[in-house]
Amino acid sequence: MKMKSIYVTQPYLPPLEEFIPYLEMIWDNKILTNCGPFHQQLEEELCDYLGVNYISLFANGTIALVTALQALRITGEVITTPYSFVATAHSLLWNGIKPVFVDIDPNTLNLDPSRIKSAITPHTTAIMPVHCYGQPCDVDAIKKIADNYNLKVIYDAAHAFGVKLRNGSVLNYGDLSVLSFHATKVFNTFEGGAIISPDAKTKQRIDHLKNFGFADEVTVVAPGINGKMSELNAAFGLLQLKNIEAALARRNEIDNIYRIQLAGIKGIHCLNGCEQASSNHSYFPILVQPDYPISRDALYQRLKDNNIYARRYFYPLISDFPMYRSMPSAEHKNLPVATIAAAQVLCLPIHPALSSADLRRIIDIVKGG
Ligand SMILES: Cc1ncc(COP(=O)(O)O)c(C=O)c1O
Repeated sequence: MKMKSIYVTQPYLPPLEEFIPYLEMIWDNKILTNCGPFHQQLEEELCDYLGVNYISLFANGTIALVTALQALRITGEVITTPYSFVATAHSLLWNGIKPVFVDIDPNTLNLDPSRIKSAITPHTTAIMPVHCYGQPCDVDAIKKIADNYNLKVIYDAAHAFGVKLRNGSVLNYGDLSVLSFHATKVFNTFEGGAIISPDAKTKQRIDHLKNFGFADEVTVVAPGINGKMSELNAAFGLLQLKNIEAALARRNEIDNIYRIQLAGIKGIHCLNGCEQASSNHSYFPILVQPDYPISRDALYQRLKDNNIYARRYFYPLISDFPMYRSMPSAEHKNLPVATIAAAQVLCLPIHPALSSADLRRIIDIVKGG
């Protein structure tokens, strides 16, 4: 008998009948998009839930990243991490900006602030760090550098939904933060994303930019894009928000089980959380080190042979893709920590529907190395 497939993640879906009343309202009022009532309600509820002042919903996180850079008029060079999903750097290329890759910290796998200064040139205008796996970056060190060199900071916070740092939202650091609500994320709206702004004026500019640049019926203030979230996605987000606490709690349980069960396995290193932050357990990354009996790729394959689909996030490094690899900052000698992390990392399955039996299957294989 074929064993049940276990994927690295599985989207949380509430009971279908709970979504029907939302659909009935859309069918009644015939408002499908253009910042309708569900869109407005989701912005309000997310501000409350996340503890942020201003949020602009988007069709996806990538358009939100592209728009965040436009909103702050970023040009020239931007310092960023090679250890992320490719959309981080792509958002720079879509704006005609040159990404400059800087190595990561071996403990957090986030951009290493101690290496930022030497990458700054007269063309540098901003830093785009990623709160990788939802673990906060060293926001204080990054702010200090940005303030000294008069740089903007846009956090790619695609993984950081609901993460708190020192009791406040991690999304309140930097000039802007960008979320993704893609199906694979802790909180999903099928597709979706958002930008968190510090003030009403910045939100207003972002709202113009995501709606073709329209400021009113007859005024176009910038060459904006269509980045709006539809009413269907926003309605789904409202329903998801009702269930988010239960989903996060189950993720927390799974994280604890992995940590207990994998502790002490020679060559398996679980990434530690940041002491000052709450985690959303969006991923469970392990590093498969040289003293583990088999290679990372052999473990990945062994899991796959057993219908368990772990993922090598983030491998290859962004800087190894053809559109980036000829850049001087993409050279492996500039990125030794990221190069090792990409060769060792494996994200094990974590999602609310993962059962104890599923977990047992995964853990037994990792233990059996
Ligand atoms: C770090 C990071 N940045 C950006 C994105 C892009 O978000 P989206 O898929 O919503 O466009 C993702 C994931 O999809 C991501 O993981």
